[in-house]
Amino acid sequence: MARSSSDLHGRRWWRSSAARILAGVASVAATAAVLVTAPGADAAASTLGAAAAQSGRYFGTAIAGGRLGDSAYTTIAAREFNMVTAENEMKPDATEPNQNQFNFSAGDQIYNWAVSRGLRVRGHTLAWHAQQPGWMQNMNGSALRSAMINHIQKVMAHYQGKLAHWDVVNEAFNEDGSRRSSNLQGTGNDWIEVAFRTARAADPSVKLCYNDYNIDNWNYGKTQGVYNMVRDFKARGVPIDCVGLQAHFTGGSSVPSNFQTTISSFAALGVDVALTEVDVTNASTAQYTALTQACLNVARCVGITVWGVRDSDSWRSSESPLLFDGNGNKKAAYNSVLNALNAGSPTTTPTTPTNPTTPTTPTTPTTPGGGGCTATLSAGQAWSDRYNLNVSVSGSSTWTVTMTVPSPARISATWNINGTWPSSQVLVAKPNGNGSNWGVTIQHNGNWNWPSVSCSTS
Ligand code: XIL
Repeated sequence: MARSSSDLHGRRWWRSSAARILAGVASVAATAAVLVTAPGADAAASTLGAAAAQSGRYFGTAIAGGRLGDSAYTTIAAREFNMVTAENEMKPDATEPNQNQFNFSAGDQIYNWAVSRGLRVRGHTLAWHAQQPGWMQNMNGSALRSAMINHIQKVMAHYQGKLAHWDVVNEAFNEDGSRRSSNLQGTGNDWIEVAFRTARAADPSVKLCYNDYNIDNWNYGKTQGVYNMVRDFKARGVPIDCVGLQAHFTGGSSVPSNFQTTISSFAALGVDVALTEVDVTNASTAQYTALTQACLNVARCVGITVWGVRDSDSWRSSESPLLFDGNGNKKAAYNSVLNALNAGSPTTTPTTPTNPTTPTTPTTPTTPGGGGCTATLSAGQAWSDRYNLNVSVSGSSTWTVTMTVPSPARISATWNINGTWPSSQVLVAKPNGNGSNWGVTIQHNGNWNWPSVSCSTS
């Protein structure tokens, strides 16, 4: 079947070719476990992660290691989100409690919890005036500069190749846009760019972010201060890939009317933007909708992370600022965000995929073990580096789908399943209690062939 690369990944191709694909598999449909179909009208996704994935974005949460034993907490977190930030466990006081003695146990616990469920992880944070270990708080000058560099090198080496983003520097500006005074600032105004250059050398695979709060209002001094730094970094070739707006709309602040202008202005500098620590006083539906919509409206706003799962998990729990109440029930703001994500059809295709030959259909449909279920794949959005596949399972509610991606492709995210990973190429997916429609994001690493899939019942 001849396909041009220009329309290969577009919906037009699917619409015009769907009939041919379906005809092609009809002869094996009776026995095949895997069918390939064109995506139909976009069905509304039922979780935040899946809804965000429809436009190539993620929806994340902060995870507290101390709560991983709480099954109500982990059930919601694994079901709803596809990105995780360690709330405290990857901060300097956690990872380097004594100078040059590193402890990754708490950070790794969260990392392993996340990736074993197909969630990705943002690293937070490497250089910050707060939550420094005691030995670092007492340091200054060249000794501190060296210690900062060593910290970045060692922590990033541990997580080398594993994380989606690192918040390299956190909260380095005053409200008026000047630099915040701290022991790090005292080592010289170039400490931030030294941190970023060190980080790039330590792990070239991870996106390097500057992260701060109160940089939401475009007309605010602090916003302009950070903007000018990022512009300067881009002009001088200091490596920076993303800006995180913490977006704590708690403690008296609220979503400004020019929030989207701020996001798009940062993005226009050539960096990704993420909302990294969202919480909103009393979970105002209007504000949650507005901040979600602002992100959806800007191509380079890559994802949203809320700062905790349930109100009772929040660092500002008295303001009930999250999307789930203390009993784990979805709040009105949850529905507002989900609806906004579902309505936000892909606003952009970040880059045009150049792969000339695929997506291809799986070539070896396998028969369902036990004969009771069928996994149906359909194409989601594709980007230059990755593509989404939607999976719909029919025939049984107690299915197990085994998906094997062709090397060197890797599954980088999943939604709406309980997943385990026998190897980096193999995902074993089971229902998470929330229906039989789920999906994966696949980093193709040059191999666009779709995974093979088999379905069995248990
Ligand atoms: C907060 C955590 O939520 C609390 O548990 C901890 O006691 C203090 O730090 N900006 C940040 C986050 O970048 O790391 C902070 O997290 C909240 C403000």
